[in-house]
Amino acid sequence: MQSSKDHWRLIRLKYFIVTGSSRGIGRALSEKLLSSDHHLLCISREVNHELVALAESKNAPIDYFPIDLINVHEIDALMKRIIGTIDESAIQSIYLVNNAAVVQPVEVSSGSEPNDIIAHMNINLVAPMLLTSSFIKYTEPFKVDKRIMNISSGLSFNLKPMLSCYSTSKAGLETFVKAIGVEQRDVRIMGVRPGATDTRMYEQSVITDKSAGTIKLASTSYAADRIITFLFDRFEHGKVVKGW
Ligand SMILES: NC(=O)c1ccc[n+]([C@@H]2O[C@H](COP(=O)([O-])OP(=O)(O)OC[C@H]3O[C@@H](n4cnc5c(N)ncnc54)[C@H](OP(=O)(O)O)[C@@H]3O)[C@@H](O)[C@H]2O)c1
Repeated sequence: MQSSKDHWRLIRLKYFIVTGSSRGIGRALSEKLLSSDHHLLCISREVNHELVALAESKNAPIDYFPIDLINVHEIDALMKRIIGTIDESAIQSIYLVNNAAVVQPVEVSSGSEPNDIIAHMNINLVAPMLLTSSFIKYTEPFKVDKRIMNISSGLSFNLKPMLSCYSTSKAGLETFVKAIGVEQRDVRIMGVRPGATDTRMYEQSVITDKSAGTIKLASTSYAADRIITFLFDRFEHGKVVKGW
């Protein structure tokens, strides 16, 4: 017979806060995480209604929090609200995947509009820093496994013309992972650099790169599988690793 203690353990959920869940790698990752004992908390501008319908068909808890991450001053309040919905007694572990990003401006630095440079840095670097900071702060009462996965890129060090914003934001994100790795013991953090993957962002990034046509692109499903492997089985606190 099941004791009430066993029953209590059975209903504890894993919580996943995933940014950029509406399409590309983030959507594939969210789809793969759908499960009746996982609760997905999705952040992006667009709500992906197909993902919500799929979650419902699998009896998988899901909530969407539509926000434009350019509005960095709204992030702390959003995280307070999201994490505030979680019942401490019903949580097994909690994860934050900072996946949302943009590649624009794809332009030489002197040709980029100042506002586009600022928007890029807000979405790709300031937003994940604030999401991380708020995650650490508001999950403090939860004495469970807490992990943050930041999605970086090989372009953080493999430099190409017209991608100075992207390389700079991803290099900053990688340093942030290492810095938080040094100061944090309660929450673990790592970064993964996916290889070239068949998404809208990839298309936008190679507009000017004539050699890009020869690159074999991974599917979003493959990229998501790799991220899941690192998240659950190969997590290395304070490290940034190549996805494949
Ligand atoms: N594709 C590649 O070859 C590749 C390679 C290395 C690394 N990466 C990294 O992988 C991650 C996912 O990229 P992807 O290729 O899947 O890109 P994608 O298909 O363009 O998807 C980007 C996601 O980020 C969200 N997003 C963008 N701007 C946002 C904003 N202002 N506020 C909130 N959400 C925003 C988008 O949602 P909404 O538009 O609905 O807001 C979308 O869900 C990124 O961190 C990227 O740098 C990609």
